[in-house]
Amino acid sequence: MDTSSMQCFPSPGRAHATHHQHPLIEHLRQHLVLTNHLSRQQRQALSRLVPLLLCGEQSAMHVFHQENDRLKDQPLSHHMHQLQQIEADEYLHEDALQQLMRQLPLPADLQKIKRRAQVFYTRIDRLSHDLASHFATISQLDACVCLVMNAIASSDLEGSAVARLFELIKNDEAKHVTIAREHAGQLGHIVNVDNSAPTIHVELIKLLMPEATAFEAIGIDAERLFARVIDLAEKRSPQPTHEVSVARPMVGAA
Ligand SMILES: [Fe+2]
Ligand SMILES: [Fe+2]
Repeated sequence: MDTSSMQCFPSPGRAHATHHQHPLIEHLRQHLVLTNHLSRQQRQALSRLVPLLLCGEQSAMHVFHQENDRLKDQPLSHHMHQLQQIEADEYLHEDALQQLMRQLPLPADLQKIKRRAQVFYTRIDRLSHDLASHFATISQLDACVCLVMNAIASSDLEGSAVARLFELIKNDEAKHVTIAREHAGQLGHIVNVDNSAPTIHVELIKLLMPEATAFEAIGIDAERLFARVIDLAEKRSPQPTHEVSVARPMVGAA
């Protein structure tokens, strides 16, 4: 597969920090072919789901690269070190998912899938009214990504090299949730007045819903997964909004 076809956003350039040791690097070294033992149907399903996640990794590379650039003249604190580690994680996740995509068939409508993902991740910027709420939204999005990655890791693919790859990425994303939330707090984000939380969850479901069949093909109950995303929104939002409540019938309609 031509890797340029899987570029949602151009690379932001060299990362401020890179991993030399990481469980994911070790995993990729041990499994040059990640798709062994997968059926044709499972490969096809992954070829539709991975681009959506890959665009997210490319978007996250930009967010953390830019933030580390903005903070580069400040003395290196533990928190800044953590932000640089996230950036390094995102570069690694992107590389891992690119490697996986090269081993999967090319969906005929890849450009359409990619375009939907580009629109979604670009909108995150517009949903946030300032940098603090932007990082709060990123934290919420990462929590959702954890749910999706966990669903794939414990799907019919469980036990495969691909499932382990998603599990390893999810482990990093779980750390990102906390660090991005702390960063939002340091930038002055006040949790109780944030009303972007439910929106991002609903928007994510809208992005994933057209691929419900691909989720089902690897043994994931898509409706249950989307309901979990909504549950997450309601837990994080003190007052569930109209947008969240209208999402329930939408999920059922998938
Ligand atoms: Fe990531
Ligand atoms: Fe992340």
